[in-house]
Amino acid sequence: MQQRQIGPFSVSAIGLGCMNLSHAYGAPPAPEVGAALLHRALDLGCTLFDTAALYGFGGNETLVGKALKAHRHEITLCSKGGMAGVTFPDGVKRVIDGRPEAIRKNCEDSLSRLGTDVIDLYYLHRWDKKVPIEDSVGALSDLVRAGKVRSIGLSEVSATTLRKAHAVHPIAAVQTEYSLWTRNPEIAVLQACQELGATFVPFSPVARGFLCGGLRDVSGLAHNDIRRGMPRFAPETYAANVALLDAYEALAREVGCTPAQLALAWLLHKDARLVPIPGTQNIQHLEENMGAAAVVLTPEHMQRLEALINTQTVKGLRYSAQSMSEVDTEEFFTA
Ligand SMILES: NC(=O)c1ccc[n+]([C@@H]2O[C@H](COP(=O)([O-])OP(=O)(O)OC[C@H]3O[C@@H](n4cnc5c(N)ncnc54)[C@H](OP(=O)(O)O)[C@@H]3O)[C@@H](O)[C@H]2O)c1
Repeated sequence: MQQRQIGPFSVSAIGLGCMNLSHAYGAPPAPEVGAALLHRALDLGCTLFDTAALYGFGGNETLVGKALKAHRHEITLCSKGGMAGVTFPDGVKRVIDGRPEAIRKNCEDSLSRLGTDVIDLYYLHRWDKKVPIEDSVGALSDLVRAGKVRSIGLSEVSATTLRKAHAVHPIAAVQTEYSLWTRNPEIAVLQACQELGATFVPFSPVARGFLCGGLRDVSGLAHNDIRRGMPRFAPETYAANVALLDAYEALAREVGCTPAQLALAWLLHKDARLVPIPGTQNIQHLEENMGAAAVVLTPEHMQRLEALINTQTVKGLRYSAQSMSEVDTEEFFTA
């Protein structure tokens, strides 16, 4: 597996998004199945593991911490705070809270669930717009000084917010949705990352399954699958997007890879400072995804891919109005 750099860490060019083992896409697998997948990722040379306090309301960190404990020194362990489950009388709910005291508590809880003394890369999961970004990043910076965190990242921020944060403490990574069908980072964030020396970590890099080709009909998604709340996956809109897939799959065949590998290879060829983190519950899919690091694309392939799947050809917003209001929307394509 080729290596790429995030802050001081040399990591596999493709990391593993661990969220899917506890959260988001229907029923999660049993913990032993999740642990087996994490171990297979290690065997395949994956050294970058991405979790968060939010995923499974802490359950994902517990799973990852336990399964990878014996390999802690071999991996770059990433987690996130500032958005977590909070217990209310009617149950646990997701809350964005970027106050320094909340970030400190999130980090302590994460360290304990992960069973480690230090988190290699700790992201602010969302900028809490009620709190100046300088205050939230100041709290993260204190965690670095206290030896609880080795480097800092941000998720779903604009270039403006990134620059303000970087003035407080160097930002090692920005993690935001980016794939052929979600191009917002191309407006300004990728450029800002390059200028500031931050690595860009694309999440949902295979478009939540769309770019894997097999998901042609969304009517069978589980009732609690998060894609049900995303405009792009609404049945009529999705049908328009599916119309792009025949040509996309033909291009994958021409290159000699699978559709999911094509999506990941496009990211790896876009910039040497990108480290995508696909997520999966399925070991065959994991093997396929890690294999994408060996796929070679020509400039002509890149051009044809971008002409086929882009902001004009893809229909529907990526998030609901509620979720859009929670991200930093200074620079966004409207489509
Ligand atoms: N910072 C943030 O706010 C944020 C938000 C979302 C996600 N993330 C991180 O990013 C990671 C990845 O994002 P994501 O899971 O939302 O999107 P993704 O990786 O683009 O897509 C995951 C979906 O694609 C399917 N899939 C993956 N590889 C496949 C393959 N080779 N063939 C067929 N289907 C495949 C998975 O199903 P199977 O399980 O069946 O393979 C799953 O339904 C997460 O695990 C999480 O760590 C971060």
